[in-house]
Amino acid sequence: MSRILGANQPSIAAAAEMLRRGKLVAFPTETVYGLGADASDDLATANIYAAKGRPQFNPLIIHVADAAALDRLIVWNDTARSLAKVFWPGPLTMVLPRAKDADISLLASAGLDTLAVRIPAHPVALALLKAVNIPIAAPSANASGKLSPTLASHVAESLGDKVDLIIDGGQCAVGLESTVLDLTSPHPTILRHGGITRERIEQIVGAVHEATRDENSPKSPGMTASHYAPRAPLRLNAGKADDDEALLTFGSDNHIMGGAVRLNLSPTGNLTEAAANLFAMLRRLDRVGIKGIAVATIPTDGLGAAINDRLKRAATTPS
Ligand code: TXA
Ligand code: MG
Repeated sequence: MSRILGANQPSIAAAAEMLRRGKLVAFPTETVYGLGADASDDLATANIYAAKGRPQFNPLIIHVADAAALDRLIVWNDTARSLAKVFWPGPLTMVLPRAKDADISLLASAGLDTLAVRIPAHPVALALLKAVNIPIAAPSANASGKLSPTLASHVAESLGDKVDLIIDGGQCAVGLESTVLDLTSPHPTILRHGGITRERIEQIVGAVHEATRDENSPKSPGMTASHYAPRAPLRLNAGKADDDEALLTFGSDNHIMGGAVRLNLSPTGNLTEAAANLFAMLRRLDRVGIKGIAVATIPTDGLGAAINDRLKRAATTPS
């Protein structure tokens, strides 16, 4: 069973300490409970995907306590500033260009060069974010494909001991997720409807567009062309690499020959470690100026499904 603590100063301090040590903490927001982890930590982020059992690496929302904390993470624009003034803290998530030196795990943004950010309005969420003082990646705290949790007990039922600590802040007031608004193109576009209505957003910024997609549809961000794919072509299930190819392997790889540069996602064959390394290693190999990237066979169980999904898309996306 998962550990549930009431929301008070000592439990929030304990939760902040656990987050700093790379643990998963579920906490209440005004929308739904979030499954939080240190957003700069690749392994902690990989553990979010493992706990949820997501077959894909959907990008995660980055939560902070105040707008100034975003200055090093995203590139602001006037529209974002106006919306932040009106709706934050609150159930609006804004997608903005990722700042060059943003200390956020590439896995948290699923390799995208944008970040989804929000300041939640729940006092417990705010207290925790202030106490921990680092950006927290947090999807809804439910197993993939299940309903979003609005009570601490929902989180415990859905995730069990996959979450290290649950802070119980009672029932979430809004009860549905934040509105996700893409501000990276000239026209603000709603990617997901939620706690802040389209009408209220339009009162501030004028007409907004609407993207027809939901998390599970093929149009989720993971499928779009803007999703990061290496410039170098990927060759999957490679049994060996040419001398002008880079090689990405998994587990013991002595039997796989060749490769101008070789990186191993997890020499010990740990899929969570492999997920944590995936995007960073693809980027490193992409930079070495080779003809292509050969990728060894990766198991398909557990997080292997999401890793293979991502690799397949990277292999077929024209650059
Ligand atoms: O209310 C909420 O938003 C809750 C609480 C915990 O804050 N969180 C939540 O997270 O619903 P999640 O991971 O279940 O949903 C995040 C949504 C997904 O639809 C995802 O595709 C989108 O935000 N998203 C995240 N980063 C994105 C990005 N860089 N570009 C486009 N969409 C993004
Ligand atoms: Mg969700």
